[in-house]
Amino acid sequence: MFLVDAPLVARREVARGMFVLSLDAPQIAQSVRAGQFVNLGWSPGPLLRRPFSVYRTEGDRIEVILKAVGAGTAQLLAMTASDTISCLGPLGHAFDLVAGPRSVALVSGGLGVAPMPLAAREARAAGMSVTWVHGSRTVDELCSEADGDEVIWATDDGSRGFAGTAVSAVPETDVVLACGPNRMLAAVAMRWPDAQVAVETYMGCGTGVCLGCAVPLARGGYDRACKEGPVYRAADIDWSVLPAHLPYAISA
Ligand SMILES: Cc1cc2nc3c(=O)[nH]c(=O)nc-3n(C[C@H](O)[C@H](O)[C@H](O)COP(=O)(O)OP(=O)(O)OC[C@H]3O[C@@H](n4cnc5c(N)ncnc54)[C@H](O)[C@@H]3O)c2cc1C
Ligand code: FES
Repeated sequence: MFLVDAPLVARREVARGMFVLSLDAPQIAQSVRAGQFVNLGWSPGPLLRRPFSVYRTEGDRIEVILKAVGAGTAQLLAMTASDTISCLGPLGHAFDLVAGPRSVALVSGGLGVAPMPLAAREARAAGMSVTWVHGSRTVDELCSEADGDEVIWATDDGSRGFAGTAVSAVPETDVVLACGPNRMLAAVAMRWPDAQVAVETYMGCGTGVCLGCAVPLARGGYDRACKEGPVYRAADIDWSVLPAHLPYAISA
């Protein structure tokens, strides 16, 4: 885990109101794995750092993807090139992408695209063909950068691709990885109990200390999304208890 002051070097819009920020953070770029996140802090900014999945890496840079859903994300999107953001990471437990399976489906709803470019890269390196199924409410909210050997688009209103949820559009594959609103992940768990899902909770420290990120487990009890998660086996989570109303849910 590294703590670095990372200059903001670029920003681009990839869907309506959805932006990718590129940060110069060499140590994190070289060590992060798909599904891991960084906890970002800046000044003046909120008291608590804000967690974001690492979206892509390129050389010494990491990228994060976000929309303005509150004060902190609005401040991040108002920053300009050369502003500096404190990055703590990489944090959390990554997707498990070992060689063996021949195909993987990446299922993303809205901002659930966040961990998928790295997952696609690692899956290809492990010899899998990648089908990326990306869904949102309407065409303007689809991230334009979804990329795979096959890309399947899904919109609730039918304005692009399959008319319905991303989960309904997933073809047969050996492995399923998913990220998006918790209600979408609950549907994934019903259909593929062994799918790996990246979940969202409230977070404080991001390092396993504050217990602010409790995830209810199907076997009873809780563990910490920032340490044991945020990637879990889908059926291991008690979806009836995990809140459905978090930002990924707003944006998908
Ligand atoms: C492991 C992990 C990875 C994440 N990756 C991404 C990502 O790649 N892109 C992205 O846009 N968002 C991501 N999030 C959610 C992101 O952290 C929150 O959107 C952000 O913290 C909101 O900050 P804010 O100050 O703008 O919102 P606030 O003004 O604090 O609140 C606005 C809304 O966000 C909710 N919220 C506030 N803090 C958190 C938090 N720490 N976790 C979850 N919900 C929160 C509130 O309930 C409220 O509905 C991730 C969250 C986690 C736990
Ligand atoms: S965020 Fe503090 S223990 Fe997980």
